[in-house]
Amino acid sequence: MNKEKKHVPVLLKESIELLSIKKDGVYVDLTTGLGGHSIEISKRLGDSGLLICIDMDKNNLEYSKNRILQHEVKNKLLFVEDNFKNIKHIFNMLDIEKIDGFIADLGVASVHLDDHSYGLSYRFNSIIDMRLSKKITKTAQDFFLLEREEIETILKDYGEIKGAKKLADMFIVKLRHKYPNITTFDVVNVVKETFKNVNNRVLSMVFQAIRIWVNEELENLRMMLYDILPFMKVNSRGVILSYHSLEDRIVKEFIKEHEIKIINGYKDYNFQPILQRINKKPIIASREEVQN
Ligand SMILES: C[S@@+](CC[C@H](N)C(=O)[O-])C[C@H]1O[C@@H](n2cnc3c(N)ncnc32)[C@H](O)[C@@H]1O
Repeated sequence: MNKEKKHVPVLLKESIELLSIKKDGVYVDLTTGLGGHSIEISKRLGDSGLLICIDMDKNNLEYSKNRILQHEVKNKLLFVEDNFKNIKHIFNMLDIEKIDGFIADLGVASVHLDDHSYGLSYRFNSIIDMRLSKKITKTAQDFFLLEREEIETILKDYGEIKGAKKLADMFIVKLRHKYPNITTFDVVNVVKETFKNVNNRVLSMVFQAIRIWVNEELENLRMMLYDILPFMKVNSRGVILSYHSLEDRIVKEFIKEHEIKIINGYKDYNFQPILQRINKKPIIASREEVQN
């Protein structure tokens, strides 16, 4: 893996501002990745502040640990290799009762797409795997052993693939016998054989669907949101960076469910208000940032 690869965190300035960091607060980076957001959080914490850095990818966590410690860090730091769906267990283990804020920059890091060993990218040929942590028991190979209906549903629900039934059939006929040595290019070739005019968007949606299934990304997000809420102090902040409509929907529904209710122009105090949106509309990365 090219460890020196330049990594530019997404919406860095905006997310750090929104966290409104208190010098002596307790903060959690649920998706530490290469440490970009964690470094900026640390810069704003004093010596009684605490930052807990979590990532389920051991390589990324080790890399970010070295990177963060190269900076002059005053605050306390804890590094935890775990899935953020286990946040309740992580806090209990660390004896954390309340937090001042968290950030979750969802999905994969740039290294995941650049490093062949993750078998995640349709740009390189490698054995398809897609696990963000080697502790995950199923791999992308197992996707091709599922029942046809399941394959179709995953392609449709997680990748919005039109013609999911046809592609599911083709996957079974063309790829199942190659298990457990199916490669990323085998998948690309079957997609190209199935549909006319396959562009990168179709390929990335097929790969996204399989990746979401392997890593159980939507279940993780849902579980984390419900379990982190009781640990949040009054006036604490949570920032979530999502990259597709499925994650976005889960977050929006969660906020709606826990948001203060306004009835006939009055705040409804019969309902226990827990969450309040800080920005009315989601903040979207600029075209310049996306191109970079
Ligand atoms: C987009 S990257 C984060 C980049 C990071 N904000 C930075 O500035 O470098 C997402 C990271 O979250 C991790 N991740 C994804 N899902 C996770 C989960 N359920 N639990 C823990 N880590 C997860 C991935 O391994 C990856 O390193």
